[in-house]
Amino acid sequence: MNMRKAVAAGSATLSYQGKSYELPTYAGTEGPHVLDIRKLYGEADVFTYDPGFTSTASCESDITFIDGERGVLLYRGYSIDDLAEHSNFLEVCYLLLYGKLPDRAQMDCFDKSITRHTMVHEQLASFFHGFRRDAHPMAIMCGVVGALSAFYHDSTDINDPRQREIASHRLIAKIPTIAAMAYKYSMGQPFVYPLNNLGYTENFLRMTFAVPAEDYKVNPVLAKALDTIFTLHADHEQNASTSTVRLAGSSGANPFACIAAGIACLWGPAHGGANEAALKMLEEIGTTGRIPEYIKRAKDPNDNFRLMGFGHRVYKNYDPRAKAMQAQAHAVFDELGIHDEPLLKVALELERIALQDDYFVSKKLYPNIDFYSGITLRALGFPTSMFTALFALARTVGWIAQWMEMIEDPDQKIGRPRQLYTGAKRRDYLPIEAR
Ligand code: SDX
Repeated sequence: MNMRKAVAAGSATLSYQGKSYELPTYAGTEGPHVLDIRKLYGEADVFTYDPGFTSTASCESDITFIDGERGVLLYRGYSIDDLAEHSNFLEVCYLLLYGKLPDRAQMDCFDKSITRHTMVHEQLASFFHGFRRDAHPMAIMCGVVGALSAFYHDSTDINDPRQREIASHRLIAKIPTIAAMAYKYSMGQPFVYPLNNLGYTENFLRMTFAVPAEDYKVNPVLAKALDTIFTLHADHEQNASTSTVRLAGSSGANPFACIAAGIACLWGPAHGGANEAALKMLEEIGTTGRIPEYIKRAKDPNDNFRLMGFGHRVYKNYDPRAKAMQAQAHAVFDELGIHDEPLLKVALELERIALQDDYFVSKKLYPNIDFYSGITLRALGFPTSMFTALFALARTVGWIAQWMEMIEDPDQKIGRPRQLYTGAKRRDYLPIEAR
């Protein structure tokens, strides 16, 4: 069977019910090799079992590499620390989409294309008015992003590379406008149109916080911090929402519908909803004096309380994004002159205590990206309900890049996992009188 780029690395032998089966193994450029089990069911009439897919490679990918043990995250080979320090979100979008850093001409062309797609169809604004004003922004984002497929019939032919590219640029360009509109709608304020003379993140801040009654000046320090936060959230290998986008895309669904599916999955508190949950947890703890009580609850197997923003399916070391997020938190608090933010003190002390506690150390539970993002986004002026919408804004480019890679993979086919059936054996139907 074909592989896109992976190279043969020998084979493994499986002995099962008295027979031996050779399973080819393949190596990528980084990370664990894979055992190719594609023929196993046909040859041995047996499934592999891996609920949650914790030991399963669902695809080959060139986009993002994570080493959970070493706390490494690379976008197309560039470390997240380098990109957070030296790059910007729109350049990272180009990198994730096209696989390399742009030269000046390529960046200018990309920037112009994105800028010219930031407005949404006026009819799309009508979709917001069907929601209650207190609708969660993620509910609105799911609905409105899915509705984009009704507006762009010229870019839903996923087999046309140019239409795929137009759709990807439209999604990257319009997701900030839609997120800002969701916020404005919840505030009862008028929508603010994008301005083409502003950068990507500056434009988003202005669409979110400007009001017609007065001029709005973007704070460049805060804009840079938010831009870096978007970079940190841009992609993350085959996480739950990215796998959702790939599975939806594998059926041939249009890109707007696929991204709407990713938004729905990201909303969960175990995934993208953790930043909102982590801030609520810090607010509930309130003071450093109450931390031991919550540490005790988090360790209690009979209490389903978990330290939100702690632990990760892949990182069994410090999430490299959490360090960069902490740095952005300090940059924002310094710029705003918030030196005694009580929740930052609670977060720092909670992290200090947890990382000395054997329960967290033995289970390799470290702060993840969501631990510091909540207090930073709140300081930037966003309500808690917008935190996951901001995560979705940033992750849209990662979803699109992964979707494009899947569509362009000649071996891709519709995703269709099997199961281990433990239900009733065949039984005869009984009329109701006989039951
Ligand atoms: C994101 O996949 C991605 O890449 C996601 C993401 C991305 O960029 O796309 O990184 C974004 O989703 C970050 C994670 C945000 N979620 C949270 O912060 C929620 C809190 N974290 C946990 O729910 C949990 O850590 C998960 C869901 C993130 C990971 O779960 P796992 O890998 O399935 O780990 P587990 O649930 O098997 O936990 C292992 C042990 C368990 O104890 P035992 O059963 O072994 O006794 O650790 C315990 C868990 O009870 N544990 C925690 C804990 N997380 C796990 N105990 C207390 N507090 C926690 N946060």
